[in-house]
Amino acid sequence: MIDFGNFYQLIAKNERLSHWLETLPAQIAKWNKDSLHGYYPGWVKTIENLPEMTPDTLDLKTGVTAQRTQPLTAGETRRITNILRNLMPWRKGPFFLYGVEIDTEWRSDRKWERVLPHLSPLAGRTILDVGCGSGYHMWRMAGEGAELVVGVDPTQLFLCQFEAVRKLLGNDQRVHLLPLGIQELPALQAFDTVFSMGVLYHRRSPLDHLWQLKDQLVSGGELVLESIVVEGGEHQCLIPGERYAQMSNVYFIPSAKMLAVWLEKCGFVNVRIADESVTTTDEQRRTEWMINESLADFLNPEDPSLTVEGYPAPRRAVLIAEKP
Ligand SMILES: C[S@@+](CC[C@H](N)C(=O)[O-])C[C@H]1O[C@@H](n2cnc3c(N)ncnc32)[C@H](O)[C@@H]1O
Repeated sequence: MIDFGNFYQLIAKNERLSHWLETLPAQIAKWNKDSLHGYYPGWVKTIENLPEMTPDTLDLKTGVTAQRTQPLTAGETRRITNILRNLMPWRKGPFFLYGVEIDTEWRSDRKWERVLPHLSPLAGRTILDVGCGSGYHMWRMAGEGAELVVGVDPTQLFLCQFEAVRKLLGNDQRVHLLPLGIQELPALQAFDTVFSMGVLYHRRSPLDHLWQLKDQLVSGGELVLESIVVEGGEHQCLIPGERYAQMSNVYFIPSAKMLAVWLEKCGFVNVRIADESVTTTDEQRRTEWMINESLADFLNPEDPSLTVEGYPAPRRAVLIAEKP
């Protein structure tokens, strides 16, 4: 099983986060018990099979790249590649690990390039990344000098991908992932920056999601909200039918302007739309590490400005707001 003891020890010494220990260990113990069946135990074994590696150079500033002065042998490269391929599909990345390139479905570095210029400097900050996936952006936050980055994501495979990458990055302890949904967190009011990227449209109650994010921030803290949006004014919102771009779990897709209104309604201040752009098939595509259908298959082949269901194709906005 994956051991969260290091994280407990870390927050026990942290004035803002130590009270989390009243609830967290019991939640994780229950999660561990519930995860004994299915694929999870096999994925944990996969991680155990990875060698412990310590990079001689680690670049988290321009990507997630670990290197050793002594390159891997062809046999070592094959072995690590095969082990990591047991954790497919890899969606968020890419990762460059000692010459092994995990070419993920998403070029998550592109999102980071759109988001980063608009943030208050992350150096020294305590950060929560809600719906962090495999943790790609968390490593980039560490690369910007964050003191501690905590991610929450309930998907077992993403926890395993995260732990596999962490093991290959020398068991770095600046970044941690907990297998929980945001709704399972108490109101910690502990984080300087909270990210919610790609999560809001998956929540049945998006305003409750915004309140839950606010509950995690210190007063004066910054929220970074990224979501699929539709074009239009502050009264525009799409509530798709059974599927949107083949996803069955999409509830509300507001315009960026409506999202700004929602944030203000939830008591955020200094709300601004930092970026809006259409998702391209360069950024989200099928690769050798994610061999299922991807964005190109979700768009109308005759008119890629529409999804296969006839809705506007995905465009994404980044909003920044503060908790007063
Ligand atoms: C579209 S991905 C976004 C990943 C990453 N944040 C990014 O922007 O590339 C959405 C993520 O939210 C996670 N998720 C779904 N429900 C969640 C919840 N209730 N709380 C936290 N994360 C959730 C999923 O497991 C998935 O990893």
